[in-house]
Amino acid sequence: MKYPQTRMRRLRAEEFTRRLVAEANISADDLILPLFIHGEKQDAAVGAMPGVSRLCMDGLWRACENALRLRIPAVAVFPAIPSALKDDNGGEALNADGIVPRALAGIKERFPELGAIADVALDPYTSHGHDGVLDARGNVDNDKTLKLLSRQAVMLAHAGADIVAPSDMMDGRVGAIRDALEGAGLTDAKILSYAAKYASAFYAPFRAALGSGAALGGKDKRGYQMNPANRREAIAEMRLDLEEGADMLMVKPAMPYLDIVREASSAFDAPVFVYQVSGEYAMLRALGGEGETLKSLVLESTTSFKRAGARAIFTYFATDIAEWIK
Ligand code: PBG
Repeated sequence: MKYPQTRMRRLRAEEFTRRLVAEANISADDLILPLFIHGEKQDAAVGAMPGVSRLCMDGLWRACENALRLRIPAVAVFPAIPSALKDDNGGEALNADGIVPRALAGIKERFPELGAIADVALDPYTSHGHDGVLDARGNVDNDKTLKLLSRQAVMLAHAGADIVAPSDMMDGRVGAIRDALEGAGLTDAKILSYAAKYASAFYAPFRAALGSGAALGGKDKRGYQMNPANRREAIAEMRLDLEEGADMLMVKPAMPYLDIVREASSAFDAPVFVYQVSGEYAMLRALGGEGETLKSLVLESTTSFKRAGARAIFTYFATDIAEWIK
């Protein structure tokens, strides 16, 4: 039917019909709050991400308490490691008394119902800033790295991580981690695979926040993270990760990759998450400041993720969103 029998504007005219016919909605249930932690006594503002801080342990407990109060289901912790503790093999990643295992144990002790997510990757811990160990030619050695990632994942799950999230993009890591978790009796540990993780310039503020950017110097991660030009390859990555034992898949970054989110959520029955990364955060903050403009921008972008088919969203705006929609 055509105009005037059909007037698309009828259902847009009032707020109540707009709400009734909305195809996607964002709720607190969709949100995961990423938190930066460090071993200092005080919180420290992250220059590249206004409103975000590296948290001390007390700051972490405060942030978790707030997340729980707002019914945010889970937090993800990312450590800033002093350069004195970094080495070529990222040895600190396996330290069961390190800052991340202590944070995880503290979260589960204080807030058992809050989901705790930990990244599996070596980049916060390596002196060269790469996600794995290097071979003689200076490339990341896939198979050697797998052994370390498996140990890291088991250590993190023992410490209290409900979900381990490999973000390293090594081949075979999900299978290796799943075997290691099963072998350790950690049968309930969930794997959220950063399956379609692109070699993105949008990670720059995150790397600045954690110091992995300085370690990386002028180098990039295109030898293991995906080429932004590729779509079918993302589906291949995701299929492999599911076969290897991933429970959930992630697309990252979010806004420039909504086509991948749409395609993955149609192709697979497993939940597809997105990560609205640090550069997206900085961009929205730069345009939106702190008031109503920011709220509109953030709700528009995150609703778009839901429309594209995302099940849950990592976003540094998680607590803001939960407050706005309360
Ligand atoms: C580490 C990791 C990165 C992010 C999450 N885990 C950065 C990278 O791969 O260099 C980026 C998150 C963000 O930009 O917010 N493997």
